[in-house]
Amino acid sequence: MSSSLTRRLIKASAIAAACLINVPAFAGQVEVLHWWTSGGESKSVEELKRLLAAQGHTWRDFAVAGGGGDTAMAVLRQRVLAGNPPAAAQIKGPAIQEWGKLNVLADLDDVATEQKWDAQLPKVVANVMKVNGHYVAAPVNVHRVNWLWINREALRKTGSKVPNTWDEFFSVAEKMKANGIIPVAHGGQSWQEFTTFESVVLGVAGAEFYRRAFVQLDPTALKSNTMASALQTFRRIKDYTDAKAPGRDWNVATGMVIKGEAGMQFMGDWAKGEFLAAGKQPAKDFVCVAAPGTARAFTFNVDSFAMFRLKDPSAVKAQKALAATIMRSDFQQTFNLNKGSIPVGTGVQMDKFDLCAQESAAYFAATAMINTLVPSIAHLMAQPAPIETALREVVAAYWNNDRMTTEEAMIKMVSGVAKAKQPVAAGNAAKAS
Ligand code: GAL
Repeated sequence: MSSSLTRRLIKASAIAAACLINVPAFAGQVEVLHWWTSGGESKSVEELKRLLAAQGHTWRDFAVAGGGGDTAMAVLRQRVLAGNPPAAAQIKGPAIQEWGKLNVLADLDDVATEQKWDAQLPKVVANVMKVNGHYVAAPVNVHRVNWLWINREALRKTGSKVPNTWDEFFSVAEKMKANGIIPVAHGGQSWQEFTTFESVVLGVAGAEFYRRAFVQLDPTALKSNTMASALQTFRRIKDYTDAKAPGRDWNVATGMVIKGEAGMQFMGDWAKGEFLAAGKQPAKDFVCVAAPGTARAFTFNVDSFAMFRLKDPSAVKAQKALAATIMRSDFQQTFNLNKGSIPVGTGVQMDKFDLCAQESAAYFAATAMINTLVPSIAHLMAQPAPIETALREVVAAYWNNDRMTTEEAMIKMVSGVAKAKQPVAAGNAAKAS
């Protein structure tokens, strides 16, 4: 062999070796089902894709549009029942247990032990991520649902102060209406109606009542004078929404507040992701304030990815890398800065977060101490899907049909819950989650 050929071969092998160092030998593909398709949401999920790619893995995007995830969950069921689950899916709350019972989820204990998830996660969150004591899902964030978002200029124009009580809220809404501003940007989809309703119940009746009604499903709370007054307050809000609300997506509604066409929106802090993606700043351009009457309480909504059991070893590697990346503090920080939520793991620096997130973090901790931290019913944290759906349908019907009486709505809530509670076969439970 000529010496120049030998030199070229040595050089080629050195380059090949260097390439191998940069690309992990076990690079695989993860297919991830999620419903994060709005401006702020997609910006957030990009970070996860970027970090996985940096480890040599490929992200196969399985995005199913539709806020709140109803459509995504329907598509997931079809895929799993057909025996072809994605590597990971955005599944949260009690639904994780339902899927776990079907024995289709992967065990993430090795990743969890290595990264000390038990020490990093609040116990209430860790328990939700485990089935029979084994981790099957990784949490990405904590959203606070009981927020009211307000366009700062709309407040100024109408000479209003930030409302803290329902009376103040309705007086601001009245002034906005008089000034040609749509007071409340609403997206007429049942999950958005339910999102507003849970904040109204919390604000009108407090955390203890909320828990009795939506966690314990106590019929004497679901049908009570207190629930009646929450329903009436909820219905009053409708007068301040516009005729084009039916069917509107939540981020389109947020867009109306961003532009100042509308003044306020009841929505979880994923709405902040939209304000930020549009270049708006808290305090200067928009206000985040707890929904009236809910300042000392917190409805939590923790997003997470459950992992499905896979056979291909390279896909399993990529899946474990996804789980590990989700719990890395650099991911938790960047993702949550964009998403509007706060990191779920302890030990993430909060100094880069804005005042809405700082407030959320402080109240998440404080409300846990005073027992006013409650799971969001509308975002599937409090109940399995069949019960959530039963309540949501009544709330949406009540909102959309002015002829339905408060009494009728409450009777339907009680009977809907009783029906949804009836024991179902494990397969049916997951079908409905
Ligand atoms: C929630 C989810 C949030 C946000 C929202 C709107 O259920 O937890 O992360 O995506 O839906 O799509």
